Amino acid sequence: MGSGIAEVSAKAGYEVVLRSRQQASADAMVASLEKSLGRQVERGKLEEADRDAVLGRVRAVSDLNELAECDLVIESIVEDLEAKKDLFNQLDRICGENAILATNTSTLPVVEMAMETGRPDKVCGVHFFNPAPVMALVEVVRSITSSDETIATARAFAESCGKSPVEVADRAGFIVNALLFPYLNNAVRMLENRVASRDDIDAAMKDGCGFPMGPFALLDLVVLDTSLAILEALYAEFKDANYAAAPALRRMVTANKLGRKTGEGFYDYRKA
Ligand code: 3HC
Repeated sequence: MGSGIAEVSAKAGYEVVLRSRQQASADAMVASLEKSLGRQVERGKLEEADRDAVLGRVRAVSDLNELAECDLVIESIVEDLEAKKDLFNQLDRICGENAILATNTSTLPVVEMAMETGRPDKVCGVHFFNPAPVMALVEVVRSITSSDETIATARAFAESCGKSPVEVADRAGFIVNALLFPYLNNAVRMLENRVASRDDIDAAMKDGCGFPMGPFALLDLVVLDTSLAILEALYAEFKDANYAAAPALRRMVTANKLGRKTGEGFYDYRKA
C-alpha cells in the first residue's frame, strides 16, 4: 500500500519521501513502484519521460528524521495500534509544527494516534484502497480532534491526486470496511459450511452483483492477516457477531497462507 500511495502522490507532482525501517524494504517499494510505472509505459498509458520524472520525485529512506520537511505524512505501517501510537509520537517530535500527520489505517481509532501528539487538530485519516493507483476512493477520517482546516487540506490532497474523497467519522471500519468485511467474513463461513465452492461463490458475486472480483479473490488481494486485523478491530468496537472472524480465516493466517503476499491464500499464485 505504501508503494501505491507513493505512486499516486508522485504522479500528482508531489515530492515523496518513502520511508521504511529497513533501507532494503524502502528500495523494494520503489522497485515495485518502478514495475507498476513500467507496465503503464508498456501499455502506452504513460510516456517514458513522465515515468522518469515520477521516479525522480520519490526518495527511499530508512531514517525517520528524513520526514522533517514533509508537509503531509501518511503512515501506512502494520495494523497495530501500539506501533502506530509510537510512530505518531516520534513523528510529532520530528515534523514541522504545521505538518499534517495522517494515518492510512483501515479500522483503528484515529483519535488514539492524534492524542500521542501535541497537534491532535492536525491528525486525521487518509485511507486509500487496494490497489491504490487504481481505486478512486479515499476516505478522509475526521477524528473528534481534527480541525476543519486539516480535513479540508486532506480532501484537497486526495482531489489533487485524482481521487474522489468522502468524509467519515472516526468509527472502526469507517464506511467501506464496516460494510465490506461482514460480507467477506460471511463468504468464508459459507465456504466452511460447504454451502458452495470457492469458485462458485466468487463467480456468483461477480456475475450476480457485478463485483469486479469475488470475495476470496478480494481477500487474497487485501491480504488475510490485514483482513483478520480489520475484523478483530471491528469486533472489538461493536461486538457484532458478523465481525467475529471465521475460524478458517484465522487458521489460514496462522499457517501463513496470507494471499497474494505469500503466494498462497484462498487461491494458489505460485503456479503462474
Ligand atoms: N497496481 C497498479 N495497477 C493495477 C494493479 C495494481 N496492483 N492491479 C491492476 N491494475 C491496473 C491495471 O494495470 C489496469 O490498468 P489500465 O486499465 O490502465 O490498463 C487496471 O488496473 C485493470 O487491471 P486488469 O485489467 O489487470 O484487471 P481487472 O480489470 O480485473 O482489475 C482490479 C483489477 C482493479 C484489482 C479489479 O479487479 C478491482 O477493482 N477489484 C476490486 C478491488 C477492491 O474492491 N478494492 C478494495 C479492497 S478494500 C481495501 O483496500 C481497504 C483496505 O483498508 C484493506
